[in-house]
Amino acid sequence: MAEMVIDEVSEDLPPVLRGGFEPVTDELVVDRLEVIGEVPKDLNGAYFRNGPNRRFAAPGRYHWYDGDGMLHAAYFDRGRVSYRNRWIRTAPLAEELAAGRALWKGLRETPRADRPDMPVKNTSNTDVKFHNGKLITMWYLAGGMYHVDPMTLETLGPVSFAGAPDLRASAHSKTDERTGEFLYFDYFKHAPYMEYGVISADGRLATRIPIALPGPRLPHDMAFTENYAILHDFPLTYDMDALATGRHKLKFYTEWGSRFAIVPRHGTPDQIRWFSAEPAYLLHVINAWEEGPPENREVVMLGTPFRLPRDLAGNIEAEKFARAWSTMQHRDYITYEWRFNLATGKTAERIIDDTFCCEFPMINTRYQGYKSRYAYAINMVRGSLHQPRFAGLAKFDFETGVIQAYSEGRDFFYNEAPFAPADNPQSEDHGYVVSFVWNARERRSELQIFDARNFGSGPIARVILPRRVPNGFHATWVSAERLASGK
Ligand SMILES: [Fe+2]
Repeated sequence: MAEMVIDEVSEDLPPVLRGGFEPVTDELVVDRLEVIGEVPKDLNGAYFRNGPNRRFAAPGRYHWYDGDGMLHAAYFDRGRVSYRNRWIRTAPLAEELAAGRALWKGLRETPRADRPDMPVKNTSNTDVKFHNGKLITMWYLAGGMYHVDPMTLETLGPVSFAGAPDLRASAHSKTDERTGEFLYFDYFKHAPYMEYGVISADGRLATRIPIALPGPRLPHDMAFTENYAILHDFPLTYDMDALATGRHKLKFYTEWGSRFAIVPRHGTPDQIRWFSAEPAYLLHVINAWEEGPPENREVVMLGTPFRLPRDLAGNIEAEKFARAWSTMQHRDYITYEWRFNLATGKTAERIIDDTFCCEFPMINTRYQGYKSRYAYAINMVRGSLHQPRFAGLAKFDFETGVIQAYSEGRDFFYNEAPFAPADNPQSEDHGYVVSFVWNARERRSELQIFDARNFGSGPIARVILPRRVPNGFHATWVSAERLASGK
């Protein structure tokens, strides 16, 4: 089913368009894939992964984040696995298809001045979640989202919720599987700079409030607990002096510290409580939950913030960090905990682990918002490489401190690996972890399946994929039960 073909590209390809990053040119449906080992019969559902896969080459420099969003899905049915991939038919991609060429340049080039509605192309290439029977695809710079059919991967159109037909949101808006609600946040360059809200399980706008920030910020994630939402105000933002002259340069304002807004899930702006913390920048939350008696309740949030570069005296090297962040040259992360005491208004924070560099954390999403013990993450190679390296996978046990890691070596590139519960799970980690893996040694993609309770032993099965699944961003697991019920 090759209905789209990428143009011949004569330019010197940057590293993030080569090898395991090279875009694919077609949309496939392949049933009954070859399996090495045995796919467990109690692993039923679908693994969806979003990522960049450019359709038209644009003039100018290419950034890994530029490619048009493409979903890759693996469907598991009682030991059998099938695969499908499809571009997300975003509005700007439709414009480019009609024109037969790229109409937007990449992030490293000047935004389109003639398109104030979309100066940078919203590729919807960053994140994917399941809500009310449909997939929702999202973009890290925030904007319109798309509904996608989970079984055919057909783009159904821009999301349209009752009460909020034109809703914008950022990647990492997320579903609470226990209530079926979709909690979202949006951010933008004008006051109030951030918005938070909730879409009900049946797709109606339930809550929508401004989160007033002192200025524009670059948040990447949010968190929720049973009763609260947690919004992030980290001191990484546009350099205000440069922004005044129309330039987009980033600056880390160490002196501002970090701030977190904690608001009742269906709260009002006057119920927002701000908590201060040490300067930090976090891309991804692991999980958040509430702990302690009502009179001393704490909101706990775990995540994988950057390890900030420091000089010999221990001072944060803000300029170095901002420069390294914007060029993706700094990939040093730690595992961290914040505790917000609702009684005292104070924040306590600590490093959980700073020896094992991990990002793209996943949990058993049935526990999202509730206390969880385990996380599954990608082991990141630190340092200044031109290509990111997702070198392996790891399981964290936050109760014992045990970390089990697995990698097959330098020729393997892993992808965000969600936890997939077994049918009728008996414990939080009763299930599997699945990851698309680029095997550069044999130049093929495979799907690796791990037993989550015996993680360090490596994959219990491999599914050979019909061709490369380019390295990408965020993934989600949707059980067969959720696919069937829509919840
Ligand atoms: Fe992300």
